[in-house]
Amino acid sequence: MTTRNMKAHLTRRYMFSASHRLHSDEMSNEENRATYGKCNNPYGHGHNYALEVTVSGPVDEATGMVCNLVDLDGFVHAQILERFDHQNLNTLPEFSGRVPTTENLCIAIFDIVKRRFHKAHLDKVRIEETMLNSFEYAGDL
Ligand code: NI
Repeated sequence: MTTRNMKAHLTRRYMFSASHRLHSDEMSNEENRATYGKCNNPYGHGHNYALEVTVSGPVDEATGMVCNLVDLDGFVHAQILERFDHQNLNTLPEFSGRVPTTENLCIAIFDIVKRRFHKAHLDKVRIEETMLNSFEYAGDL
């Protein structure tokens, strides 16, 4: 069989829990309540987030893999789950001056993986916030 330069994708799923309160300092309390509804509750609320990280690249001829899961898991555990699991997202530096919506959480996680994980190309980050909501970020337009 001839060598083919085919790109494959790998998606790995991780679970973590965190709390947040949707509140923008740029808006009045009334505007915040109107915009975010119950998610503006002063005491916040929690989610069990399902995070999916998708990477891609050529399939290594020796290993048959796009990316070694040991490398991806090690990175995500150390740099993402350690940072966000069981945290109040509003208190983290990533969300100083940025509302911790799940859209912004996708962007924060994408930026960390993109900047520091170099074993494969990062395609996208997807987060399920509830059974009914999921969000994706794949870099700037
Ligand atoms: Ni929420």
